[in-house]
Amino acid sequence: MQGENRWRLGVLGSGKGSNFVAIARAIEDGTLPAEVGLVISDVEGAGILQHARERGIPARFIAPGSFRTKLDPQAEAASIAALKEARIDLVVLAGFMRILKGDFLKAFDGRVVNIHPSLLPSFPGLEAWKQALDYGVKVTGCTVHLVDQGVDTGPILAQRAVPVLEGDTTASLHQRIQEAERTLYPETLARWARGESGLRIPPQSTHPAS
Ligand code: GAR
Repeated sequence: MQGENRWRLGVLGSGKGSNFVAIARAIEDGTLPAEVGLVISDVEGAGILQHARERGIPARFIAPGSFRTKLDPQAEAASIAALKEARIDLVVLAGFMRILKGDFLKAFDGRVVNIHPSLLPSFPGLEAWKQALDYGVKVTGCTVHLVDQGVDTGPILAQRAVPVLEGDTTASLHQRIQEAERTLYPETLARWARGESGLRIPPQSTHPAS
């Protein structure tokens, strides 16, 4: 397709990897013109690494260091080097539970994208589904956005609303949000890769589609 990019994605995650699996499936079924060049986790036993290995995708645990909410400088440098070595065009955060700042964002300027389980700017930070339930909102959802120096503050690429239902628990609401995430994330990446309207700032692909 003319104007279509075929990006190499570097996926970072800390958890079970359901968003990664949804992205991998969209690539496999041809709806997302991309390939995953590397998966990195800060959690050695994370499901996301297992899902990547099952698909034959390079998967690396990079020890995060001693901070609780960010990578230490060594881990950050190792992550940047691994992503560069894998010739990654776009860094896709899929449940990566550490804040990326400074050098990392400079290395991938405008090329780091995240999914957050609320309708930003409501409920940034941890356990956004619990924040929504505690607040008593009747609608929440998920947001795909570019990552900037703030916490969950970058330009919004797409959002999907999810109702909060009577009797919802944190688990049932999180599950409903995750179902929405699993369609919104691959769809948004595909629209962006295809250069469709409303999604600007495409990363420079070094691997144009043939
Ligand atoms: C997802 O719900 C994602 O929105 C959330 O972590 C979960 C990861 O699930 N991310 C954040 O809260 C980031 N602030 P997964 O490992 O199954 O994709």
